[in-house]
Amino acid sequence: SGGLTVSDLAEKINKDTSELIKKLMTLGVMATKNQNLDAESIELICEEYGVEVEEEIVLDATDFDNFITEDKEEDLIERPAVVTIMGHVDHGKTTLLDSIRDTKVTEGEAGGITQHIGAYQIVENNKRITFLDTPGHAAFTSMRSRGAQVTDIAILVVAADDGVMPQTVEAINHAKAAEVPIIIAVNKIDKEGANPDRVMQELSEHGLIPEDWGGDTIFVQLSAIKKEGIDDLLEMILLVSEVEELKANPNRNATGTVIEAELDKGRGSVATLLVQNGTLNVGDSIVVGNTFGRVRAMVNDLGRRVKTAGPSTPVEITGLSGVPEAGDPFMVFEDERKARQIGEARQQKHIVEKRNDKVKVSLDDLFEHI
Ligand code: GTP
Ligand code: MG
Repeated sequence: SGGLTVSDLAEKINKDTSELIKKLMTLGVMATKNQNLDAESIELICEEYGVEVEEEIVLDATDFDNFITEDKEEDLIERPAVVTIMGHVDHGKTTLLDSIRDTKVTEGEAGGITQHIGAYQIVENNKRITFLDTPGHAAFTSMRSRGAQVTDIAILVVAADDGVMPQTVEAINHAKAAEVPIIIAVNKIDKEGANPDRVMQELSEHGLIPEDWGGDTIFVQLSAIKKEGIDDLLEMILLVSEVEELKANPNRNATGTVIEAELDKGRGSVATLLVQNGTLNVGDSIVVGNTFGRVRAMVNDLGRRVKTAGPSTPVEITGLSGVPEAGDPFMVFEDERKARQIGEARQQKHIVEKRNDKVKVSLDDLFEHI
């Protein structure tokens, strides 16, 4: 659901796309035919051709894309990688996440209450890495199907005593579809019957060929339970992050995705957000999914109150009027009135869509019984 592209506008005002591109250029706007136009450019063009801006071509206020301006290259700086751990049931995903957190987060964080907020950040070699503790790839898939891409790198955990299993293959397919690099963590190498070579063999059949065998997939052998190989894995994550050249602009209003949200008895709506661009601040006017509000308080992954959260940082916020859903996008607006307007528009649209869904469902039901 994009905004209005150059060719869309050309069609609406009966002009050639190429003519419009030229006209835009003379107005100082460089655009290709499939590029979305901002409201200002649309207005300029309409003025130029003496076209009345009809309601038809007014931008969809419920679409965040229409409020996002692209960052200039010089404003972008390196940001931490966001890593998701995937793999078959019982292959050791949670144990691995816990081991990483135990070995890294507690270092130099004495006194910090490690609170579970579904995501956490560690520091390795002076670089931060964000881990998402999503419950398996179901959440990953549901987020992706909703257009939210939060993961930069997928870690595929495969137990060395069990090998490639159905959910391993599913996870491979999800990661491939999302076009994120995959690092293989061959886990449980401490176990009797562990056979890392077999895991490599089986994964090769799925196109994941180890570097040792002439391929380009990184394999790390580890024992999550004995905390062996954790540093190797983190080193590989940093290596892949560097290749990916992950960047963001911390000096803009925050945008990102909901990791999880719930209604808390005492605190009301509590949402864990992943800031993907910009910096989120306490007091910001924010639209989250189909709800909105002002960020009342923010708590980081160590359970500490913070006032700001930069790119790739997971943070828990309170202050929303409702409870959003995992995978919902969020966006901060400079002015509270605008946030309210857009929040209400999205709410309204959501209600209408839900109603239409219901009508569709009942019609389908009806036809099934005829
Ligand atoms: P689900 O969340 O149910 O999909 O499982 P999971 O992938 O999170 O696996 P989990 O971390 O819960 O580990 C499953 C079992 O394997 C637990 O009993 C762990 O103690 C054990 N386990 C995990 N890692 C290792 C390891 O490196 N070596 C050995 N021997 N056992 C491990
Ligand atoms: Mg688990």
